[in-house]
This record gives sequence, C-alpha cells and structure tokens, in this order.
Amino acid sequence: MKVVIVGGTGLIGSKLVTKLREHGHEAVPASPDTGVNTLTGQGLADVLQGASVVVDVSNSPSFEEKAVMDFFTISTRNILKDAAAAGVTHYVALSVVGTERIPDSPYLRAKNAQETLIKRGGIPYSIVHATQFFEFVKRIADEATVGTTVRVPPVLFQPMAAEDVAQAVGAVAMGSPVNGIVEVAGPQQFRFDELIRQGLAAYNDPREVVADPHARYFGAELAERSLIPADDARLGEIRFEEWLNQSVRMAAAGTGR
Ligand SMILES: NC(=O)c1ccc[n+]([C@@H]2O[C@H](COP(=O)([O-])OP(=O)(O)OC[C@H]3O[C@@H](n4cnc5c(N)ncnc54)[C@H](OP(=O)(O)O)[C@@H]3O)[C@@H](O)[C@H]2O)c1
Repeated sequence: MKVVIVGGTGLIGSKLVTKLREHGHEAVPASPDTGVNTLTGQGLADVLQGASVVVDVSNSPSFEEKAVMDFFTISTRNILKDAAAAGVTHYVALSVVGTERIPDSPYLRAKNAQETLIKRGGIPYSIVHATQFFEFVKRIADEATVGTTVRVPPVLFQPMAAEDVAQAVGAVAMGSPVNGIVEVAGPQQFRFDELIRQGLAAYNDPREVVADPHARYFGAELAERSLIPADDARLGEIRFEEWLNQSVRMAAAGTGR
C-alpha cells in the first residue's frame, strides 16, 4: 500500500516512515526536503499519485498567529484537493488533545481550523489527538521563561514519547477511517510544573520552575483538565523517567536529545 507522509522528515514523520516500511508498506515522505511544499502545492499532486492513504504530520515553521493559521489552512486545502484527485481513501492527521477547548492559543486555533477543513473535506478521515511530546518539554520551558524563572500552571499533564505517537499514528493509518478523533496519551499523569521541573533538573538546567495558575501556555490560560484526554484514550508504553534517562545518556554521548 502506498502511504504518503506529509512532514515525513520531521520528528514524528521520520519515525512513522520507518515503522510503515518495516510493515512492508511503500511509505513516501513528502516535505520541502523531498521537493514537496504543501503551501505552494509544489510536487504534491505528483507524490500523491497512486496513494491510498495520506498522513499529515507536518508542522508550521512559525507559531506566529497569522503564519501558523496560513500554514495549516492553505496546506490542508492543497492536500485535500490533490488527495481527492489521486483517489486517496483515508486522510489521517495528527493534532493535539484539547485543541477544541483552548481557543485562546493561536497555535491551537490553527490546528482546529485544520481539523474543520478535514472533517468537511469529503475524504474519509481519522484525526489523532496526541498529548504533548516528551521531546517538546524543553521548548515549552523556553516559551514559559522570563529571566531565569519558568512559570507554568499546575494543571494535569499526561505527555508521551514521540516513539509512542508514531506507533499510534501508524496503527490508525493502517486501520479503517474512523471519521472522528482518536486520543492518545502517555502512561502517567503529572502536574505540569512537576514534570517541567524534573525534566530541567535532569539536564542540570538551573532555571527555577514556579507553579502559577495564571501562567499562559502558548497564549492560553489552562483549566485543570485542558491538556488531558478522556478516559478511553489509547496509552503509550514509554514512561517519562525511562525516556529522560535515555535522553540524558544520548546527550552526554553527543548523539543529541
Ligand atoms: N509537539 C507536541 O507536543 C505535539 C503534540 C501533539 C501533536 N503535535 C502535532 O504533531 C505534528 C508533527 O510535529 P513534529 O514535532 O513531528 O514536527 P517537526 O519535527 O517540526 O516536523 C515538521 C515537518 O513539517 C514539514 N514541513 C514544514 N513546512 C512544510 C511545507 N511547506 N510543506 C510540507 N511539509 C512541511 C517539515 O519538513 P522539512 O523537514 O523538509 O522542513 C517536517 O517534515 C504537528 O502537526 C503538531 O501539531 C505536536
């Protein structure tokens, strides 16, 4: 089966390409790196020829309000148009748990607009809602830093490893379209501030992490359960401590985080 992975060179996309190939599928990454640009449409119709499934795990290079909205809406319209013309029968996209209940975040507003286009796009679809990736913790801390203090709200937080995200997206892509949302999350729940503190400490990062109920997360105030999935979410296997230990070891060995 030919599966085109839009964003197949990214964090999730590259893992997904490997997994699908291991299962014998023709997994084709599509991104600017491979000559496909979903914003301009360059190379898109060609790469989708003969594909049964398209999986969109791309991300906007900029999180600025207009740039991110343009990225997800223009790209999605282009992918829908060319996927329909190519006869694609399953449109899979990766989005974020809680997208619909955090409208104050420009990034999540753009993800919500992406989802609305897919739902109305006419191709059978599955949208995977994942929680925050462990790999994203440092970026979250950087975003929430003023001086040497990181302020995050002490709400519930259930992040997951990129490896588990790719596994879940692959399983959904190989199944029948659900024409709805599948939620995936990590195996443990934390308080947001606790996890960030633990993550920074493991890297001997001296920043102080302060629990502040009004601290904004990418522009939005959060409620206790804004970032966590419903009880029937599929859970990944990799625990945070396990991932963190490995990540610290790899950084010490100079092979990256
Ligand atoms: N971070 C989180 O905690 C989190 C949580 C839940 C869901 N998600 C979702 O997960 C998805 C994937 O995130 P990620 O961290 O794997 O992304 P990433 O590593 O930043 O990769 C982004 C990918 O998008 C591609 N891309 C950028 N501009 C493009 C364009 N104009 N046309 C086609 N492809 C383009 C990039 O291609 P090049 O390499 O060629 O530039 C790259 O392959 C995102 O949609 C995000 O919303 C993230």
